[in-house]
Amino acid sequence: MQFAKQINRLGTETAFAVSAQARAWAAKGHKVYPFHLGDINLATPENIVDATLKAIQDGNTGYCPSEGILPLRETLSHDVGSKRGVTYRPENVSVQPGGKPTIGKFIAAVMNPGDEVLYPNPGYPIYESQIEYQGGTAVPYGYIQTESGFDIDLDRLKSSITEKTVAIIYNNYQNPIAAESSQEEMEAIAELAIENDLWVLADDAYYEMIYQGKARSIVSIPGMKERTIILYTFSKKFAMTGWRVGGAVGPERIINIISKLNVNAESCTTHFIQHAMLEALTGDSSGSDAILATLKERRAAAVAGMNAIDGIQIPTPRSTFYLFPNVNEVMKRKGFNHVDQLQVGALENANVSFCTREHFGRSSSDETDFYIRFAYSGISTDDINEGLGKLKDYFESS
Ligand SMILES: Cc1ncc(COP(=O)(O)O)c(C=O)c1O
Repeated sequence: MQFAKQINRLGTETAFAVSAQARAWAAKGHKVYPFHLGDINLATPENIVDATLKAIQDGNTGYCPSEGILPLRETLSHDVGSKRGVTYRPENVSVQPGGKPTIGKFIAAVMNPGDEVLYPNPGYPIYESQIEYQGGTAVPYGYIQTESGFDIDLDRLKSSITEKTVAIIYNNYQNPIAAESSQEEMEAIAELAIENDLWVLADDAYYEMIYQGKARSIVSIPGMKERTIILYTFSKKFAMTGWRVGGAVGPERIINIISKLNVNAESCTTHFIQHAMLEALTGDSSGSDAILATLKERRAAAVAGMNAIDGIQIPTPRSTFYLFPNVNEVMKRKGFNHVDQLQVGALENANVSFCTREHFGRSSSDETDFYIRFAYSGISTDDINEGLGKLKDYFESS
């Protein structure tokens, strides 16, 4: 008996290993301050829960169309389109069990073995995993730290395009670094995609996790709607990470392929949940507004706590629920040369758990800076204050 060779190319979310470490530490009786997982410790809004129970009682418990129920495809096409200034129809939507499935299905739809796909690194680790698992070459592009945040390394992105490149994965409002493109940066990426006739996966997982101002999408740029697939998820805005519902939105010809992949993978996304998503999109929004307001309050505490640490200086990100501080000075003070030492040290000395840059794609040998990622979505404001106070003591000691 054997195992398939491509399994060796399948990656994972190594951040889950940090959760296991944190759990093991907590099991020893320590109070752990959990900044590691991008999960949300807030309840799904009540009107969505009620709509789900009703949908079950109404008998929506059998199979439904693989592409999703029509009312949800209609509503989602309108919602996604109107928030981006483009027009979509139900035919442009394939409902998915979460945001994540769109990544693998997009790659399956557009990439042949040997093709190259550009992806952000540091970035969501599933991009690298799916490209390589499906026999492609994952070509990373990085970010340059600035005073106000991070810019995409456009020169590197440009020079990485070859005749084998078929797609760019673009995650504006970015995990893990909370980067947000300027209009010029977004237009430069769109120009590269159009000039080189590339598909774009716009991973919009955090498109509505914006604390001030208005979200901007690459699909709004002329010439992009025809080549862009949007990854949509209900997970973040409605605190529904475990419900598993999202969608792929894009040109009908690729959406049809993605729906055919649905038939082969899961038949359909959970039927009754789709009815409840109509309530999420069109019903009372006070629950999701409250989620965003709570996260905004946590962001203020997390940024203040982080900036109180000697040697750390971060701007306030406008979106996501992540902070990605540079910890070069802390590393120097501690005499560490691997950021894992800092991560384990913080857990064992301050009971603070977080991920590092190493959990977000393979780092390249020319990276000399050290970064860690803090998620403030799964921890109360009081615990943010308490935990970062303990972290300050640990980070400031040599
Ligand atoms: C950038 C990014 N894309 C996609 C996803 C997947 O979202 P979901 O949990 O809805 O599958 C996540 C989840 O954390 C993410 O951070």
